[in-house]
Formats: sequence, C-alpha cells, structure tokens
Amino acid sequence: MASKKKVIAGNWKMFKTGEEARATIQELKAAVEGTKERVLLAVPFTAITPSSEEAKGSNIEIGAQNMNDASEGAFTGEIAAGMLKEAGATFVILGHSERRHVFGEDDAFINRKVLKALQEGLTPIFCVGETLEEREGGKTEAVLKNQLEAGLKEVAKTAAKDLIVAYEPVWAIGTGKTATPEDAEKNHQFVRGVLEALLGKKGGGSLPILYGGSVKPGNAANLLSQKNIDGVLVGGASLKAEEFAQIVKYNEKAKV
Ligand code: PGA
Repeated sequence: MASKKKVIAGNWKMFKTGEEARATIQELKAAVEGTKERVLLAVPFTAITPSSEEAKGSNIEIGAQNMNDASEGAFTGEIAAGMLKEAGATFVILGHSERRHVFGEDDAFINRKVLKALQEGLTPIFCVGETLEEREGGKTEAVLKNQLEAGLKEVAKTAAKDLIVAYEPVWAIGTGKTATPEDAEKNHQFVRGVLEALLGKKGGGSLPILYGGSVKPGNAANLLSQKNIDGVLVGGASLKAEEFAQIVKYNEKAKV
C-alpha cells in the first residue's frame, strides 16, 4: 500500500529570535528540499514573519504555538488568529501540555480556540496526552477521551480535513523518555477510535494523528512505521536544522 504523506512538525517553543529562525530555516530548506513529507515549523510569534519569508517557495509551512479565541479585545499579552495569519502562519498548536499544565488552560478555553482557528482557516494541531500520574493510575484512555471530546466539542465533521491531532504523553515531553512504538500505537489506535466516533469514520478516520514526546532521529523511523502514527511533533530535536532534517528524511535513512 502506498504510504500517506507523513506530517513532520517542529515546535520551537520559546527558542530563537527572528534572525536565528532565518538562519535555521535557510539550512533546513536546503536539507529537506524535494522531500515528499509535509514539513511544519511552529515558531515564536516574533519569528513568524521572518520565518515565513525565509520559507517562501520551499515546502516548509510556518505556524504558531498558541492563540486566543477572541478576534480582538482587551486581553493583554494575547494574540489573535488574524494577527497570526497576517504574519504568515498557516497553522497553530493548541492545547499543548505546557499550555495546559504550566499556564493552566482548561478544556473549554482550548475548545474555543480550536473552533476559532478552524473558522479562521488556520489548521489546529490539537494536543492531548496523559501525565505520568494518570498513566500509572490506569487512566490514560479516560483522560484522552475526555480531552478529545471536550476540546473538539461542536467541531463539524466537515472540519476534520482541516484538523491535525497530536498525542503527546506528558511524561515523554522533554524528558528523553519516549513511548515505545507499540505503546504509542496502542494509544493512537484509541485516539483514532474516539475521533471516528466524534467526527465520523471518514473524517475522523483519515485526519493525521502525530506522536510527540522526545522524538529524535534515532527513534523517528520506528514510531513512524506504526499504522496509526501519521507524523511526529518534535520539540528539542527540531531546533537544529540538521537533526530535524534527519527526522524529515527518516525514510531515506531507513533504506540505507
Ligand atoms: P520534545 O517536545 O520533543 O522536546 O519532547 C515535544 C513537544 O513538546 O511538542
């Protein structure tokens, strides 16, 4: 069976100025030219414009890491979808575990953001994932189901084609501990089932589900070989062009 295009997304978090972003993208562009995978980079707000200028004409898509659900207003420190689009973003990460756990964002707020992003034509990368405590308490599936149902509440079935979901176990983020490919696949299968129930067999069955949490060049190919792992969301290993390019080219490497 011909394999679907994988989605290889980088999340730079709070790293890189505009100038640093330009330099990394220049290097990355050359390294991933001609790849058949989708390459996405979520950069800091101030790096969106320089990054999208630098990425122009390449196959790299630039996005943001968060946004507010309002179009504008007295919300000091927040940013709106229209502003992100003007800066050059085509997608936005929403519900990342650092937003949920460090900044206290709840499911209802994340849901409003998802709806707003879809309405504005920004592709959400909607993140879900269990903490270590929840995992050890046998609650992983219940947590994932709750986060998916609450975060995707009122999302139309027809919007599934514009949506990306990321499964990121919190205990695997930035820790160097990755879920085994089998373990990740089991949870991806579960997420797939919930998405089908929410968004229909067609939409929920085909939208990309990314795995995130300590993805590196050394483990990407094994993770991406799993049936329900349609891509990866990469934090630390996306900061260096060379390392990220190795993940984008996981398939070429595997064949050597
Ligand atoms: P990590 O981060 O690859 O550094 O673990 C992943 C993420 O937070 O999206």
